[in-house]
Amino acid sequence: MGAVPLKWLTLLVITVQTTALVLVMRYSRANASGRPYFASTAVLLTEAAKMTAVLLTLWLENGRSVARTAALLRRDVWGQPRDTAQLAVPSFLYTIQNNLVFVALTNLDAPTFQVLYQLKILVTALMSSVMLKRRVGAVQWVALLVLVVGVGLVQVDRTAAADGRHRHTNHLVGLLAVLALCMSSGYAGVFFERVLKHGAASQSLSVRNMQLSLFSVPFGAVAAALNDGAAIAEHGFFYGYTGYTWAVIALQALGGLAVSATVKYADNILKGFATSISILLSVLISWGYLGDVSLSAGFAAGALLVVGATFLYSCGRPPPRPAAAAAAAARHKVE
Ligand code: C5P
Repeated sequence: MGAVPLKWLTLLVITVQTTALVLVMRYSRANASGRPYFASTAVLLTEAAKMTAVLLTLWLENGRSVARTAALLRRDVWGQPRDTAQLAVPSFLYTIQNNLVFVALTNLDAPTFQVLYQLKILVTALMSSVMLKRRVGAVQWVALLVLVVGVGLVQVDRTAAADGRHRHTNHLVGLLAVLALCMSSGYAGVFFERVLKHGAASQSLSVRNMQLSLFSVPFGAVAAALNDGAAIAEHGFFYGYTGYTWAVIALQALGGLAVSATVKYADNILKGFATSISILLSVLISWGYLGDVSLSAGFAAGALLVVGATFLYSCGRPPPRPAAAAAAAARHKVE
């Protein structure tokens, strides 16, 4: 399959996966009947599932030969310690981020979370411009401004709606968690994109994912021990697990792999565009089926501005700098 269909396929998978994950995760936390599972154990199992999937992919890519797969790992992962070590940065941020998502979704309803989380496009744009030297045109700056106004509108509306309702949740904690998530997501995403597309050593996506997993699994284990170690020792690792928890783990793992493919075949900005469409879907499902959110005029206007801003941003991309375009063409030739 060519690069263009793969680009749209990955974006479609991200849209469906994001919608499903946010709703199932919110449902799994909001409707837990007094026995909420330990989020950190779900994050650790997600990382283990991704590592297994990446190993399986490498084995398939290497003619189903264990010996050839092991030789490749020795050469490209163990044999390149400096190249591998740089992946500790996004891995560390993703571990914190993956745990924080649960904090955010425990305290905010699904649509509010998704709209606020779109602020990551702002951080991603700034990071892309600084770290990847990607141009941000005038139309895109306008789009970013519209994005911030839209997020502000939703935020004001949700803060008012949260007053007096849902006393067991803390809107401010949810809000702070989302802001931290935006910073981490923007920086880690662009960092991974730079390693993947502009790294000194050109490595396949599977090798890059393996390098990331090598850190993510131990980081996930440390996070589980630090966050919930005592409680896990008392109640057990799988305390409070339901079918929804396993669905969250499967969707998270699929999502991580889809994110990496999207960054390879499209880019981080287009990924934001895909998640915008998923906002519309999750708002409609939350409103229609879960009764999780009431659609006020303020929320609807803000959400529309956010989604419109994402489209404007993607459509108003300036052409790449001549030097960058030539370098990209040369890379394409080599591949
Ligand atoms: O919200 P955001 O797009 O930043 O989320 C990125 C997600 O993708 C994280 O859960 C991260 O663990 C995952 N990921 C991955 N493999 C990559 C890049 C990201 O599993 N190569």
